Amino acid sequence: MTFNPILAPYPAGRPRRLRQAPWIRDLVAENRLHVSDLIWPIFVHDQDKARDAIGSLQGVHRLSIAEAVKEAREAKALGINVIALFPHLSAKIRSPDAKAAIDPEGLIVQACRAIKAAVPDIGLLVDIALDPYTDHGHDGLLIDGRIHNDSTIDMLVQQSLALTAGGADILAPSDMMDGRIGAIRTALEAAGHQDTMIMSYAAKYASAFYGPYRDAIGVKALKGDKKTYQMDSANTEEALREVAIDISEGADMVMVKPGLPYLDIVQRVSHTFRVPTFVYQVSGEYAMIKAAVEKGYMDHDRGVMETLLAFKRAGASGILTYFAKHVAELLKA
Ligand code: PBG
Repeated sequence: MTFNPILAPYPAGRPRRLRQAPWIRDLVAENRLHVSDLIWPIFVHDQDKARDAIGSLQGVHRLSIAEAVKEAREAKALGINVIALFPHLSAKIRSPDAKAAIDPEGLIVQACRAIKAAVPDIGLLVDIALDPYTDHGHDGLLIDGRIHNDSTIDMLVQQSLALTAGGADILAPSDMMDGRIGAIRTALEAAGHQDTMIMSYAAKYASAFYGPYRDAIGVKALKGDKKTYQMDSANTEEALREVAIDISEGADMVMVKPGLPYLDIVQRVSHTFRVPTFVYQVSGEYAMIKAAVEKGYMDHDRGVMETLLAFKRAGASGILTYFAKHVAELLKA
């Protein structure tokens, strides 16, 4: 903190003067949450059911494509600019080689097409990774019990091209393989998709906070953990290296994930690189707030708003959050 010589000491200076009423607090507020800061993650499933409640994510559902189109329309009407799509596939579609991930008629490709046709001006962000498509739930291909970096990249490139052809605007590689941003960027350029944006999950930590998400996409029992590709929560410098690499390989925007336990990383990344920096308030963070509210330990809307403002304070350009629609409604009220 730098010393501010303009602020007089007590009693001439009384910081409480600027806190005495809502209007003055609002006037001097340093950060604000706007609906355009929000990215709303949506789960799409391949079942006949229109909606299926996700037990670990209170109030979040897996949706049919038709239902996802409706949600996209509502999101846009509320001022949300971008939705993020995640698949839940039935077990029979998942395989060791994750071939459904590169299907040009895959679930998310179809969802992109349907949403783009109905709501052309909403931004579509898609996750690039294999975990919804592998039977083991890892983000990459397993060869001899290890996640094989380079053969995974081949899949991620094909997945990226299939989704881009389907109408995805922003590719968000969440797999943490080395070199994937460069490979995807090169393939996009070669295919004439020079405008496709990449938001890399650049600093993604191996986290306990992804638990409910795995339930949401139907990963039953993950064998082992993701620590050979996702980052160690002990590290900060490594996050800066990861971000630098992804920007140099062609990422337009970067992401830090999870959110609240990694606010220091959000701040350092956004202040160091000055590129649009996003933060993912992940499933476990959402579930934690919901559980505390259910227990009566916290006010829901105040708790949610406080966490989102914390991201803005740390320097985030935008936030992926399962609270997006609710927050958009609150901001409108
Ligand atoms: C994996 C992926 C994960 C999330 C988004 N993409 C989980 C993981 O890495 O295991 C987590 C999102 C959340 O927890 O809300 N490709």
